[in-house]
Amino acid sequence: MKANLSLIVLFFILFFNPCQSESPNEWIKIANAELERALKTERIIQRPKNVVFFLGDGMGIATSTGARIYKGQINGRNGEEGSLTFEKFPHVGLSKTYNDDAQVPDSAGSATAFFSGQKAALGVIGLNSNARYGNCSSAQGNHITSILEWAQKAGKATGIVTTTRITHATPAGTYAHTPDRDWETYVNGSDDADRAGCKDIARQLVEDLPGRDIRVIFGGGELHFLPTNETDSWSKNLTGLRQDGRNLIKEWRIRKMAAGHGNRSRTISTGAQLNALNASQTDFVLGLFAPSHLSFDLLRANHTPKQPTIHEMTKKAIEILQKNEDGFFLMIEGGRIDHGHHDNHAKLAFHDTVAFDAAVEVALEMLPDNDTLFVVTSDHSHTIRIGGWPGRGESILKGQGVNMGSDGLPFLTLSYANGPSAANNANGSRRNLTGLATDVDVFQQDALVPLKYETHGGEDVAIYAKGPFAHLFHTLHEQHYIPVAIDYAACYRSTAAQHCNKTTAISAAPPAPMNWPSIIRVLVFCLVFILL
Ligand SMILES: *[C@@H]1O[C@H](CO)[C@@H](O)[C@H](O)[C@H]1NC(C)=O
Ligand SMILES: *[C@@H]1O[C@H](CO)[C@@H](O)[C@H](O)[C@H]1NC(C)=O
Ligand SMILES: *[C@@H]1O[C@H](CO)[C@@H](O)[C@H](O)[C@H]1NC(C)=O
Ligand SMILES: *[C@@H]1O[C@H](CO)[C@@H](O)[C@H](O)[C@H]1NC(C)=O
Ligand SMILES: *[C@@H]1O[C@H](CO)[C@@H](O)[C@H](O)[C@H]1NC(C)=O
Ligand SMILES: *[C@@H]1O[C@H](CO)[C@@H](O)[C@H](O)[C@H]1NC(C)=O
Ligand SMILES: *[C@@H]1O[C@H](CO)[C@@H](O)[C@H](O)[C@H]1NC(C)=O
Ligand SMILES: *[C@@H]1O[C@H](CO)[C@@H](O)[C@H](O)[C@H]1NC(C)=O
Ligand SMILES: *[C@@H]1O[C@H](CO)[C@@H](O)[C@H](O)[C@H]1NC(C)=O
Ligand SMILES: *[C@@H]1O[C@H](CO)[C@@H](O)[C@H](O)[C@H]1NC(C)=O
Ligand SMILES: [Zn+2]
Repeated sequence: MKANLSLIVLFFILFFNPCQSESPNEWIKIANAELERALKTERIIQRPKNVVFFLGDGMGIATSTGARIYKGQINGRNGEEGSLTFEKFPHVGLSKTYNDDAQVPDSAGSATAFFSGQKAALGVIGLNSNARYGNCSSAQGNHITSILEWAQKAGKATGIVTTTRITHATPAGTYAHTPDRDWETYVNGSDDADRAGCKDIARQLVEDLPGRDIRVIFGGGELHFLPTNETDSWSKNLTGLRQDGRNLIKEWRIRKMAAGHGNRSRTISTGAQLNALNASQTDFVLGLFAPSHLSFDLLRANHTPKQPTIHEMTKKAIEILQKNEDGFFLMIEGGRIDHGHHDNHAKLAFHDTVAFDAAVEVALEMLPDNDTLFVVTSDHSHTIRIGGWPGRGESILKGQGVNMGSDGLPFLTLSYANGPSAANNANGSRRNLTGLATDVDVFQQDALVPLKYETHGGEDVAIYAKGPFAHLFHTLHEQHYIPVAIDYAACYRSTAAQHCNKTTAISAAPPAPMNWPSIIRVLVFCLVFILL
């Protein structure tokens, strides 16, 4: 009878958690469990068959912390105690994100660092630090290859997935070389003046290596592939941007047919087509799901037909790439976290971070064994802050009920150093947030310095890793170390290490010894309960 009562109480504490906070014992248990996990942290020394590289664009530490709390709160919990999926990875390091010529980086220069292993100038993709931003002739002779190309040459199937235009800085970093990230499509005059000899990014994807051999291409940006006399696939209301009259989507398909992949290649444009795509019948797919960027995940319902989620794209990409016996390299970008922040829209940024995390989760579920190296990182941070004196479990989007400035006006737990929202604070006084619904989807949190777009943040971002050689991410790293370490692990270009020897590579480490102390502890715990 007594035991039953205790069990019922325990059940309530565990599953309904009526308290705002944990008991002292609970905190001790949490720390001990964490210590046990730390003591058991594996260092897996073998060549990974696959590499899945996740990039949260603009996902600094304040963003992952805020998104973690937000995710907990939309699931009815306090929020602080939880973790995003990738935050549970066993190995974490930090990345110094500055560009060759910039203290605070942009996504192009940093994509060059974390894909090609060298820092480059701000705005420059796939070129070394000799190249100058916006100067085409400075690109000549300064092309550098990316880890996606190294993977292809090593026989891996490759894929790129993003929620931005597929020609945007981060995805372009896997396949393009350009001194200006904005040269995404053909505009008149591209053949002379500044851009002489610098092919637009969309054409590089379709025509050049490694772009033309990428098997899975999912993202947005259809208008950059269509001529000005053709319209987008959905509203039929927007015209293509290419002033060279070419339809690169058709050209992509013609090239695949010419290469003998005619009946195993597809071009698709909706979430329904994505879900209906039979992975076992598809080797090459070009899926452009929006005229420009895909929608913010929180606002996806506003679009018809339905755009796919980042986790749906990830799932299909893995199904297709997994067929390659020699494994694959897949890049997945949560690209709009950055855009939410640029407009001071923290909720959009957090929600996209949670959607990005769902993609990590689906990838982990599909690739549970030790033969995949997962790396999750970011290109740069943003100026968002989490501050004030909110209590445990306080809404991360509110806080104006508990934080009071010395000017007698309440403030939110979230704020930005700069951005468009600063316009709300005119006349030398902050706006009065009392009673405002600050948790609506597109609310702009306060910013100090007025700017049309909020800027990136220059502090370090995290690198989370799991799988073979994940422990190579363990300290404060230069951002351009990331592909060098992955390459070492995966033996793409660098094949000298012992684990790269295919005849000896796959050797399981010795099994972990039985953990008697924890087994005894569990037994004692159960015994105490039965006695009660
Ligand atoms: C562009 O780069 C080339 C080659 O590096 C250099 O000679 C030229 O002066 C640069 N042009 C400008 C406008 O800086
Ligand atoms: C671009 O150039 C072509 C050929 O010279 C011309 O037909 C077309 O009107 C131009 N388009 C724009 C937008 O300037
Ligand atoms: C657009 O123009 C090109 C050549 O200028 C032509 O081949 C094509 O058929 C046109 N497309 C449409 C939809 O009119
Ligand atoms: C097409 O564009 C017009 C004008 O911008 C707009 O009023 C209309 O709703 C759009 N139609 C569709 C189907 O998006
Ligand atoms: C697909 O293409 C291959 C080679 O071109 C051909 O042998 C095969 O019959 C085709 N399959 C179908 C279903 O069309
Ligand atoms: C996908 O294609 C394979 C091979 O052609 C077939 O066996 C399978 O039934 C298809 N799956 C679906 C869901 O249609
Ligand atoms: C700033 O002051 C002017 C003049 O008093 C007023 O019209 C305006 O609404 C104020 N702006 C804000 C954002 O409070
Ligand atoms: C802010 O607004 C609330 C509600 O309208 C009001 O009670 C309060 O006095 C205002 N604070 C200031 C400093 O104006
Ligand atoms: C690879 O391992 C095999 C078996 O241990 C050994 O005979 C061979 O010499 C190794 N090759 C290299 C390049 O290390
Ligand atoms: C992964 O490798 C570690 C150590 O090599 C081993 O203990 C663990 O069981 C492996 N996990 C799986 C899922 O194979
Ligand atoms: Zn940005």
